[in-house]
Amino acid sequence: MATRKGLGDKRNRHDPAYLRAKREKYAGRAIYKLQEIDQRFRLIKPGTQLLDLGCWPGSWLQYAVGKTGTEATLVGVDLVPVEIALPANVQTIVGDVTKLKLDRLVERFGRFDLVLSDMAPNTTGNKDFDIPTSEDLFLRALDIASASLRIGGHFCAKVFQGGRFPELLREVESRFQQGRAYRCEHTRKQSREQYIIGRGLKATVARAHDPTEG
Ligand SMILES: C[S@@+](CC[C@H](N)C(=O)[O-])C[C@H]1O[C@@H](n2cnc3c(N)ncnc32)[C@H](O)[C@@H]1O
Repeated sequence: MATRKGLGDKRNRHDPAYLRAKREKYAGRAIYKLQEIDQRFRLIKPGTQLLDLGCWPGSWLQYAVGKTGTEATLVGVDLVPVEIALPANVQTIVGDVTKLKLDRLVERFGRFDLVLSDMAPNTTGNKDFDIPTSEDLFLRALDIASASLRIGGHFCAKVFQGGRFPELLREVESRFQQGRAYRCEHTRKQSREQYIIGRGLKATVARAHDPTEG
């Protein structure tokens, strides 16, 4: 089960980002990380079709639909059902991304312009377990992006920084025209969280990962 650090969590009570999110009616403080990334890398525009992996409680979807408008299709996936009200062009799926059927995803929704992942494991405090689990979720998000993005599409995913970080960044650099690591100012100081952004999925990668082929 995932940890539940949404706006109902009393441990967040004195956290300025939490209080601001509550005031601004966002489902979670994570909104400000996506806002920061988006302002820097310009990922979301009117009409951007996007997939949000690990979308609960829904603040990234709230932010994203505010920028895409209601014409684009936005799809969120999480182990946990999203309970907030979202516009009709935002669909959420309850499920485990490791079990997502990618051919069905692409047949149902078409290809995305952007794949986001804010997925995090339910942390145990043991970094020898938490970091590899986060790295595996990151790699799964990268494979989903490679299979479901249009050529030229973008990717942004969270990972806890550990031993495989340089390898993960190289993998993004090899699949996209450009790869960058970014640590958000809104990330808590003690956190190992980083985001890796890939801009411009290469045609060769899209073809090699096409889930509707073969
Ligand atoms: C930090 S939260 C995401 C917050 C979200 N970006 C927001 O703004 O509201 C991380 C989420 O990843 C989800 N997650 C972790 N492993 C997953 C998996 N295998 N499949 C789907 N979701 C997963 C968790 O359930 C959790 O809700």
